[in-house]
Amino acid sequence: MVMDKVTVRSPATLSNLGSGFDVFGMALREPFDVIEARRTPGRGVVIEAVEGWGAESITTAAERNSAGIAAMSVLAQANADFGVAIRIKKGIRPASGIGSSGASAAGGACAANLLLDNPLRPEELVFSAAKAEQTTSGSFHADNVGPAVMGGFTIIKSYDPFEILRVDPPRNLGVVVTMPDFLVSTKEARKVLPAQVPLKSMIYEVGNASSLVLGMCRGDVDLIGRSMKDVVIEPARAPLNHHLLEAESAAMDAGAAGVFLGGSGPCVIAVYDMDQKEGKEISAAVRDVYARHGINSDTWVTTWGDGCRRV
Ligand code: HSE
Repeated sequence: MVMDKVTVRSPATLSNLGSGFDVFGMALREPFDVIEARRTPGRGVVIEAVEGWGAESITTAAERNSAGIAAMSVLAQANADFGVAIRIKKGIRPASGIGSSGASAAGGACAANLLLDNPLRPEELVFSAAKAEQTTSGSFHADNVGPAVMGGFTIIKSYDPFEILRVDPPRNLGVVVTMPDFLVSTKEARKVLPAQVPLKSMIYEVGNASSLVLGMCRGDVDLIGRSMKDVVIEPARAPLNHHLLEAESAAMDAGAAGVFLGGSGPCVIAVYDMDQKEGKEISAAVRDVYARHGINSDTWVTTWGDGCRRV
């Protein structure tokens, strides 16, 4: 059915999950952005409005806005004979480490595809959204836009040729997101990464990444949590993410199965078994760390979710 107007909900996403830098991603049930898109007679994309959390920091220039660029790319690939006007409601704060620009990029790509009656496959939408995110974050990484489009747990098997895999995480995988009240830019947080990785560290990362995937496939929350270990990326980014180690220890002491830095930060992500624990205890323990240092925080006690969907 050809539509003139569509509204989609595009989720926040976890990336890296410890050992899977630029490879692993997982969609969250909340928070999310809402993207409205409607056909316009002239070609091209316009961003009519950006509202909500952090909207003042987001450009309405379509060629520099992640939703705008992704929508343009989808329209161009499908040779669309119409344009699109977009309105964005941000439920995900920018510079948070839970895929804010990725959610908008995925939303722009999916909304444009729906207006075209779905000519592009999910993998093609992921690729378009990743190219869009490259413009805003300065690097081509698809570990946020992958799950934002496809939902569940995703693995970027390879960037060239581009191949992405998806699996449902376990039903009882709970997630506690704690977002301290300071910003970390992905662009800056990628500049501090080491150019080379010692062989010993590579072995450690591959071991943990492999067991994390096995945990997803077996439905083993404990194994997933124990595999969220990273000795390369998080240590390099710790100086940008104040009190990270203390927050992570507090989450583990409160009964989390595992904890890691969300993307480039500053969100701290704890996972837990929803059949065994209440996420709010973990949330309170992590927030308490920031509060003791005079830093406010927001929190979501949630779980994994679907990719970008029409609402
Ligand atoms: N994998 C990316 C990074 C995600 O850690 O830089 C950025 O949100």
